[in-house]
Amino acid sequence: MNLKTRKCHKLKGDLTIPGDKSISHRAIIFASLAKGYSNLIGLLESEDCLKTLNAFRLMGVPIERNSKGNYTIKGVGLKGLKEADRVIDCGNSGTSMRLLTGLLAAQDFYTVLSGDTSLRKRPMDRIIKPLREMKAKIWARRDNYAPLSIKGSQLSAINYTLPVASAQVKSALLLAGLYADGKTILREPGLSRDHTERMLQGFGVNLKKSGLSIELDLQKDRLEGQEIVIPADISSAAFFITAALIIDDSELLLRNVGINPSRSGFLKVVKDMGGDCQLINKRVVSGEPVADIIVKSSKLTGANISGDLIPTLIDELPIIAILASRAEGRTVIKDAAELRVKESDRITNMISILSNMGVNVQELTDGMIINGPVELKGGFEVDSSGDHRIAMTVAIAGLLIDEPILINNSDSIKTSFPEFIDLLNKCSIT
Ligand code: S3P
Repeated sequence: MNLKTRKCHKLKGDLTIPGDKSISHRAIIFASLAKGYSNLIGLLESEDCLKTLNAFRLMGVPIERNSKGNYTIKGVGLKGLKEADRVIDCGNSGTSMRLLTGLLAAQDFYTVLSGDTSLRKRPMDRIIKPLREMKAKIWARRDNYAPLSIKGSQLSAINYTLPVASAQVKSALLLAGLYADGKTILREPGLSRDHTERMLQGFGVNLKKSGLSIELDLQKDRLEGQEIVIPADISSAAFFITAALIIDDSELLLRNVGINPSRSGFLKVVKDMGGDCQLINKRVVSGEPVADIIVKSSKLTGANISGDLIPTLIDELPIIAILASRAEGRTVIKDAAELRVKESDRITNMISILSNMGVNVQELTDGMIINGPVELKGGFEVDSSGDHRIAMTVAIAGLLIDEPILINNSDSIKTSFPEFIDLLNKCSIT
């Protein structure tokens, strides 16, 4: 599918963004491993999450969807999964592949995991190495790339310092740790999203957190079925927040957005840049902080984005680059080398897209420097490189531009946000 961008004069509306992708994956996983029924309300029905859902169906977990789009999962217990009789396809989803690998390394059966072209190029040694230290048996192409084959075995606990702040690595090790002999101790170099820790605690697991350390105590016999209400995804909301900030005369109300501090660095950057973004009705839902957000067009200034802030907004950096191109002065993004191993190399892709749009941008090995503000230009084609966030970033920038940009392979948007175009049409006034 190809998408042509369209200029819009303002954005107005009251929107509910779909469910959080990271929380949705975890809700499916822990509900499947629990005993009894769990109800998942507001689960994100994007391609990535449906890959995780299908994986558990293939492993014998009964999962039903009702007419309102809510899911009931009849958990099979920690030891109740069955061997899938085919390769489990994780599609584009790094979260599915990495979290499942940790879980499957401890099951009493054999599994093969594969994925699409983008996922088969992403590094898996970051989970393979520590899982092997736990005595996992995992094989990979060149010891790093999917397809992965996993022969489940009895694991021993690990005491491990993660080399990068990665929620996927942390979660894979915690899932393996649920089955390991002994106490799993993890330390992160910086705080990555902590949805796994919160949800494990919600399911009654003995997990303790202190600063950047986590301790998971021995295996637990039972996780209890839960109702989980999933908030709107802040990473998806970020596209609409950006659009409202950079397009004159706009105002949006976004309901029920997850504002977990380990995830919401984007809101901090918006504030630092002078963006008018107000959080109201703050509350905690299923262990996750949530708020409604009112965002209005704003005059922005450049910001410095680096260090511990990076893992809290890693997925928002492409759209932050668009904010920066409209802000007065310099924006420096550093310490973000992880961007090179996401669904695409997001540094290379954003440098090329911003340059085509006429932005004065400089590439760094671990980020970029953007000098704004610039009147963005269109009239070119981009390929999303199978990367949903690159496609959506260009679509948002295009709202400011008279001459359209043609986004090839925009189907990738369904990975995380199938309703993106419909919601954009709903609130844009052309
Ligand atoms: C995710 C963690 C992040 C993020 C990804 C989703 C998760 O990756 O980029 O989109 O759900 O755990 P890291 O593992 O690099 O933190």
